[in-house]
Amino acid sequence: MAKNTVLTLKQKVDEGRKVTMVTSYDYTMAALTEAAGIDMILVGDSLGMTMMGYDSTLPVTMDDMVHHTRCVTRATDNTFVVADMPFMSYQQDLATALENAGRLMKEGGAQAVKLEGGVRCVEQIRAMVEAGIPVVGHLGLTPQSVNAFGGFKVQGRSVETARQLVEDALAIEAAGAFCIVLECVPSNLATLITERLTSAFTIGIGAGNGCDGQVLVVQDMLGMTAGGFKPKMVRRFASLGETIVDAFHAYDDAIQSGDFPAAAESYKDLDAEVIDQLRAE
Ligand code: KIV
Repeated sequence: MAKNTVLTLKQKVDEGRKVTMVTSYDYTMAALTEAAGIDMILVGDSLGMTMMGYDSTLPVTMDDMVHHTRCVTRATDNTFVVADMPFMSYQQDLATALENAGRLMKEGGAQAVKLEGGVRCVEQIRAMVEAGIPVVGHLGLTPQSVNAFGGFKVQGRSVETARQLVEDALAIEAAGAFCIVLECVPSNLATLITERLTSAFTIGIGAGNGCDGQVLVVQDMLGMTAGGFKPKMVRRFASLGETIVDAFHAYDDAIQSGDFPAAAESYKDLDAEVIDQLRAE
């Protein structure tokens, strides 16, 4: 498998092939993702929920993101790794935004950073791109704005909000974003945005199949979510949650019955005389 770069990803899109992306937050999952030849890994701030048990992405810190990005990039040679900029790591001022984006690249080893927002993020994106940091934008249902949206809702349903999304996409493309994630927007709007962009490609999640690529949260797509909750936009490609719980039950049963560990799973016994001597002592 060849190394994925900004150029090879764009080339894939230009050749009419779809770009694949999943989230990963740790070494083991990143190694499996790379083994499968997935093009891009997103170290998403969704790790706040999937790895840390928060009920939103808002509490995630820069240190959390650097730590998990480093775990992922230790496993990847060819997969293109994008790290999320967490809530309030890029909104305050340009210098802080640039410093934090730099940490994800220098300390985390990411190949690009992702931030949420359109026109309001143009200055930050331009500064990062000028500093040599590839930027992925994120529009639509941007989870860091869940409180402003009043919940996790499909975005761009009215003419005004749809027009705003098109303007946001064009603005961040002009600022230098090479890729834009479109989350939870009507499929035909995502297709229109994809068609209007000239240099950036789109990755959809809950945005139909007219985007240039797709992303899913890895625990969702592998069926590892507790309680079985499945958002409409998710397809489960495996039921690993059930498989794992079944394996834990089998482990428990094997221990209780004395079947595990068997002789083949144990180390060679000491000579009987040694044990006898130890007993006598
Ligand atoms: O944090 C994340 O996992 C994301 C995806 C949902 C696109 O931003």
